[in-house]
This record gives sequence, C-alpha cells and structure tokens, in this order.
Amino acid sequence: MRSLIDILELSTEEIDALIDTAQDMIARPEAYADACRGKILGTLFFEPSTRTRLSFTSAMMTLGGNVLGFSEAASSSASKGESVADTVRMVSAYSDIIAMRHPKEGAPLVAAEHATVPVINAGDGGHFHPTQTLTDLFTIKRKKGRLEHLTVGLCGDLKFGRTVHSLIAAMSRYADIRFVLISPEELKLPGYTRHEYLGEGKSSFSETTDLEAAMPELDILYMTRIQQERFAFHDDYLRLKDSYILTPEKLKNAKPDLCILHPLPRVNEISVAVDDDPRACYFEQAANGRYIRMALILKLLSEKDMPDQNKKSQKEISLDGAVCQNPRCITTTEQELPQRFRCVDREHGVYRCVYCDGRVYPKANEKA
Ligand code: NCD
Repeated sequence: MRSLIDILELSTEEIDALIDTAQDMIARPEAYADACRGKILGTLFFEPSTRTRLSFTSAMMTLGGNVLGFSEAASSSASKGESVADTVRMVSAYSDIIAMRHPKEGAPLVAAEHATVPVINAGDGGHFHPTQTLTDLFTIKRKKGRLEHLTVGLCGDLKFGRTVHSLIAAMSRYADIRFVLISPEELKLPGYTRHEYLGEGKSSFSETTDLEAAMPELDILYMTRIQQERFAFHDDYLRLKDSYILTPEKLKNAKPDLCILHPLPRVNEISVAVDDDPRACYFEQAANGRYIRMALILKLLSEKDMPDQNKKSQKEISLDGAVCQNPRCITTTEQELPQRFRCVDREHGVYRCVYCDGRVYPKANEKA
C-alpha cells in the first residue's frame, strides 16, 4: 500500500501524470464527480491549517466522497496522551485514506507504518510538505509551461519552511534548475536538504541575503513566512520577522514574466500592493491545490492494493546508544518509538534519523 510522506516517493513521471489528471479535472469536472463515491477521507490536523485542510476536504467532496476528522490536537485524544500509532489504527477503521498534519517531524511516517489505509503527509513540523509541493509544481507548469530550465529564488525562512525543503527535493530532479537561496544567516537551508539535493553534480545553487540583488535573474520567486511557531526563542523571531518584505518597488528589476509564489498564509512578507501585479500567482496557486489533491487522492485509492516500491532506498541501521537530537522529532514525545537511522554518506559517515532527517553523530560502532 502506498502513502505519501516525502515528495521523492513519487517519480517525476508520476508527478507529470498527476498534473495531467489535475488539468483534466479542471477541464472535465463531471467525469470525476463520482470517482470516490462511498469513500471517506480522514483529516487529522494536530496543527492549524486553512488551505491544506480545506482543499483536501473540498477535493474529496468534489470527487463524491465524504470527510471526517479534527482540526486541532485539543479536540482529539492526543490531548489525553494517545500516541500517533493508536490514533491512526482507529482512524483506519473509520476511513479509506488519511491526510495528517503534525507539529512533530516524522509523525506522518509513524502514522503510515501503523495505518491500514494510505497516509498523506500534510506537513510535519519544519520537515516536509509534499502536497504543497505538488501544488507548487502544478502552478509552475501551468504558468511557465515547463518544470525545467528555471532559476528559482526561495526567500525567507529556509530553515523551518517545510514547503521549501520538499520543493527543492522535487525540483532538483528536473534539468537545468538553478536555486537562489535568499535568507538571513540564521535561517539558511538545513543540511539534509542542502547536501542531498544541491551542489557537486546535483542542482546548482547560490546563497545571498539580498533579495533585490537576486531579483533580475529569477523566473520564479517563492516567498515564505518566517515560521514563528518553530522558534525556540521568541526574541529571535521578533528580530527576524521583517527580514524580507516584497513591495512593488522591489520588483522594478524583475523579469516581466516572473512568477511570484507563496504557500500562504502570508503575514507581511508580501505587501498587499503586490497582489494586483500580474506576476502575483499565489492565490491561483492556492486554488490549484484542490485539483492536484483530487488527483493524488484518486491515485492513492486506486493503487491501494499495490506494494509500495518507492520507499527511501537507504538501508536502516542501528547505532549503539545514538539518540536523535532534534527537539522537533516525533521520538522526543513518543518515547517508545525505536531510534532508527540511515546512512546517507558512508564516506563521510553521515547518518540521519529516519523520522526527521536530523543528523546524528554516532559514537559507538554501527551495526548492519
Ligand atoms: C504552509 C505550511 O503549513 O507549511 N502553508 C500551507 O500549507 N499552505 C506554509 C506556512 O505555514 O507558512
């Protein structure tokens, strides 16, 4: 059975096919009106959401299915201490497919390992957000007609912004993509995204703190919100929250066919004065989310009985006594979960937590 936890579990051919289906769903809605009749989507949102939860709901309803779920942890038994594993075991009995958002990184993976229905990661902490990436790719394809040969500026909170991590992973597989990473020093891209997808034989990239200097070369500008809820110290958020504010003035040297994206919600990082610029595509992007999620739900339900062959290929290993140090990892709150690691670079001895991709530095010997 297939779930979707990391965008790389979908091949580029599968992403192309999802985009084609979503396009067809827009063109011929009546052809899909009963596609999920009698099916139920469970939406388990342990963290706030507007677009993601409502577009999943709208997607399932448009396919003729039904939806149940909760929109905050406080209204679920998680508030009584129930584990993710037990929650999804139950919800598997009440639904045919699950979309889950959780503040802890790796929670949807734990869910997928215990559910008897497909689980879709709708955002886990500052880690991944694969369905936002599908929305982003669909929007880029519609606006630009291609997913190759693009210079993509990613601006804002590249450290905690999960949409950025999944988008880089996905786009790094297309030809001639160049990333321009625009962020304050403290909010640079984390190692697992940087080392696995960028540099040395992978996608080319440059880093800067200066949005305006980068502007003229960009085909896509992907603005992001500074992720207040992920900061350990509120003062750090206050210091960084106004790092980038896109205004019409700052777009003066931009290409006439620039495509400005933002996963939304925005706080102040795009001035409302930009909304009327024909290059502002972020509301259209949010609307596209409904159709690409329809295509994904349909795909996962129709492939429910097929084996999952797209799991991350690296073999898991156990590292004596090693513990994931990421405070946002699901293993910090669900202490009965085993500590599991994979080796991503044997030559340099780089090991990462299976749940959250946090780097671990093994002291003791590795066991195969
Ligand atoms: C994003 C998220 O939740 O990561 N929003 C979304 O899903 N559209 C971006 C954000 O919250 O900043």
